Amino acid sequence: MAGAGMSQLSPRWAAFLCLFAVLCSLFMPGVAVKENDFKKCDQSGFCKRNRAYADNAVALGSEWKAPYKIPSELASFKDGQFHATILKTIDEQGNTVQLPITVSFLKSGTARVTVDEKKRQDKDIEIRHNSGARKERYNEAEKWTIVGGLDVDTDAKISHEGETGIKIQYGPNLAFEADITYEPYSIEFKRDGVSQIRFNDRGLINMEHWRPKIEKPEPEKKEGEEGQEEKKEEIIDVPPSEDEGTWWEETFGGNTDSKPRGPESVALDITFLGYEHVYGIPEHAGPLSLKETRGGEGNYAEPYRLYNADVFEYILDSPMTLYGAIPFMQAQRKDSTVGVFWLNAAETWIDITKAKESKNPLALGIGAKTNTQTHWISESGLMDVFVFLGPTPRDITKSYAELTGTTALPQEFSIGYHQCRWNYVSDDDVKEVDRKMDRYHIPYDVIWLDIEYTDDKKYFTWDNDMFKDPISMGKHLDQHGRKLVTIIDPHIKNAGGYHVSDELKSKGLAVKNKDGNDFDGWCWPGSSHWIDAFNPAAIKWWSTLFNYDKFKGTMENTFIWNDMNEPSVFNGPEVTMPKDNLHHGGWEHRDVHNVNGMTFHNATYEAMLSRKKGELKRPFVLTRSFFAGSQRLGAMWTGDNQASWEHLGASVPMILAQGISGFPFSGADVGGFFGNPELELQSRWYQAGAFYPFFRGHAHIDARRREPFLLAEPYRSIITSALRLRYSLLPAWYTAFYHANQDGSPIIRPLYWTHPSEEGGFDIDDQFFVGSTGLLVKPVVEKDKRTVDIYIPDDEVYYDYFNYKKHATTKGKYLTVDAPLESIPVLIRGGHIIPRRDTPRRSSQLMKFDDYTLVVAIGKNGQAEGELYVDDGDSFDYENGQYIHRKFKLEGSTLSSTDAEGRDIKSVKEGKWLKLMHGVSVDRIIVIGAPSSWANKKEVEVESEGKKTSVPLEYHNAEGGRAAYATIRRVAARIGADWTVSFA
Ligand code: GLC
Repeated sequence: MAGAGMSQLSPRWAAFLCLFAVLCSLFMPGVAVKENDFKKCDQSGFCKRNRAYADNAVALGSEWKAPYKIPSELASFKDGQFHATILKTIDEQGNTVQLPITVSFLKSGTARVTVDEKKRQDKDIEIRHNSGARKERYNEAEKWTIVGGLDVDTDAKISHEGETGIKIQYGPNLAFEADITYEPYSIEFKRDGVSQIRFNDRGLINMEHWRPKIEKPEPEKKEGEEGQEEKKEEIIDVPPSEDEGTWWEETFGGNTDSKPRGPESVALDITFLGYEHVYGIPEHAGPLSLKETRGGEGNYAEPYRLYNADVFEYILDSPMTLYGAIPFMQAQRKDSTVGVFWLNAAETWIDITKAKESKNPLALGIGAKTNTQTHWISESGLMDVFVFLGPTPRDITKSYAELTGTTALPQEFSIGYHQCRWNYVSDDDVKEVDRKMDRYHIPYDVIWLDIEYTDDKKYFTWDNDMFKDPISMGKHLDQHGRKLVTIIDPHIKNAGGYHVSDELKSKGLAVKNKDGNDFDGWCWPGSSHWIDAFNPAAIKWWSTLFNYDKFKGTMENTFIWNDMNEPSVFNGPEVTMPKDNLHHGGWEHRDVHNVNGMTFHNATYEAMLSRKKGELKRPFVLTRSFFAGSQRLGAMWTGDNQASWEHLGASVPMILAQGISGFPFSGADVGGFFGNPELELQSRWYQAGAFYPFFRGHAHIDARRREPFLLAEPYRSIITSALRLRYSLLPAWYTAFYHANQDGSPIIRPLYWTHPSEEGGFDIDDQFFVGSTGLLVKPVVEKDKRTVDIYIPDDEVYYDYFNYKKHATTKGKYLTVDAPLESIPVLIRGGHIIPRRDTPRRSSQLMKFDDYTLVVAIGKNGQAEGELYVDDGDSFDYENGQYIHRKFKLEGSTLSSTDAEGRDIKSVKEGKWLKLMHGVSVDRIIVIGAPSSWANKKEVEVESEGKKTSVPLEYHNAEGGRAAYATIRRVAARIGADWTVSFA
């Protein structure tokens, strides 16, 4: 939301004010989020208990023994799965509860450890509540998240079995091993005999078992004793880990959570042995390499939190929760990457500490290795953990993608530039912005409408005074291939006569409160209900609302923005829904909170697929809230940032973290949402934004207009160049998206991911490679900065992207490059070939059939390689082979283009788009680092489709640090065909 300043007011009052967006905005500018509006660990009962549990265990040292064991007679291994029961001892009498455990060894080499709690039959310990909430641990996070990769590897086999434990070999060539120890229960995962990951290393496993609520009789009070009574309670010495005070009820910020099922948290410590860096678990505004969280200099004092929330104007360098959650972490050491995925949709906290471990106590830390110790704590649900043993970042990414799916192949327009603000106020306003962009030759693809386009925040309606003719607006945009995105939020105004509200209520599709009535809360429209997108019937109904004849004013070029889906509830606890609300199937909101945003995103995605019978186009839906798996549904952005240099800087590690966590289609509001960026900041932000996978300018309703055409020179031209750069590189970006779609690989890539052997790059998060293009980018994120230092991770040659300067680089050292305001520090790594389209146009659609330029950057070994993937950019016809996928290779004196998949393209029956692509060629080739033997060459020979032609070559000698380069024009080799260019 955007009601930052309202945090000084009581939530209810603030919510009331928020009814009036303009009024609301008066309270906002310049006020950062109050950390106090969101819980700290010790304000969250289960987090506090588990931290205390950990402290107790650590304090006891070797005396501590986790009360969890597997009786060997209850263990078995069959067909790739280990089944057993963990017994948790719950009292001094030795009573136990049963926790069934399954360890599945999957074909992909991933292991999955699932621990449940046996359902109670006994009436006496039946959980006593009448809220209607399900009486079992939430086990449907998988249903929303996992789409494949669960086939069990029946080749996994026991290598050793005894009374004390079992060892199972699995994975590629049986190189992985899981050593399960029975008492206390722990698992160690090894690769090639070397320990990588240990579960319950420090004995912090804790499954708070379900128990009956024992109503303690109110102690009789004699007259005049009330005060003393309180005192007595204070001195009772309860270990904080067992503090019952928050078992059955918990209050924060004036909101009380009735907890009908009592304490039910799940916690486990996971140690990465010999790993000093861990990454992932977005969304947080902090460095890519995660910090320690138990205090100490430079560390956080709070665990990383995952509890999707509307944290407007968030603070930076913080483990505080943000809008989305992906509980996936990777650990990195030289030449080895491993990871875990904690599949749990409830509120989760993760503590991280690093400990030096030395075999020789006299070595004083010399030769010691660092273990990263993590402690995962979720409020409810199963304990369900996937373990990835790598060994490369690419392997981890791929295995995680097999489980949770990959980035949807995007609408091509959606990787162009998006122009947004809160709000373009009328259809005339939209048309005017569009015309001005054209007048100043500024390319863009999409203009966005925020909440004010609606009639009184009633989604699927229009403010008819201001938007008199939305269809004419849509058609106007379509003239230049442009699109419109309208916002649709999950809160539905509680207003009689509003068809969406009426249908939601009459069909019973809203989220319920703990008493089973439609939950009523406050958001932009005031009193609202929330669609329960967990309910298949709700998803079906939601789909109908987007039909063109129902959502009048929309057409084929209208796409959707889902916001506030954490969900944001202005008067709710921590600006979200009460945890005791109820969802479809009787699950408490507590169980499903972090997946909630994804279910809404999913409903909209589904709806976009069925807007009109017979029209099957790729949806584009932006979401603010997300979970593991959301990448299948669209793009995300990092929410309500601020027009400050610090926020610009923070956006880069945040987007990198998204990329390595399986959700790379991400960006930050360019220019900053709150406030007014100074011109230099805005310019630098566009330069950085041109390298965000999702590139959108956005601004708060109170911010001054700042569309690029409004800016004075030289800023307008600087921004226009950044936008043109993005557009010319769209073929390379689209190819990077294709790879993300194929195997989950990040679109912008941090150095540890591209160079996992280079330890010097492991904590670098302000520079990155774009896909596998070889483009190395370091955006300028500081005021007045006119040079940047770029870390060089290898021995390749690096050229300046713009002027072909050949840099003198040394592996493992920083290279200082000039970065005057009008330039972006971009290098091309030798050995790559980058496809571009160089004719500037108004939108990506108008570039669809333009010829290509290939930029060949010759590597140290005299060779270069690159790729192009292209399809029609908006349909699903690529699934039927309607795409072009080329591999370009310069080897010796021949540059060739062949089908990247070795397909015989002639065997593909060409549809309309492929036929039109016959007219598209490689027009120009630029070879950077061209050998001096070409210096006297005037022509090269192009051979394609049985024809040989000579085309002119222009050679430019090396000069003043610039590499020699050659330009070949009028190549006219069809992009879809095989061809060679011979420089011999
Ligand atoms: C939220 C969004 C922001 C949007 C505003 C109004 O604050 O994060 O992008 O402009 O709501 O819809």
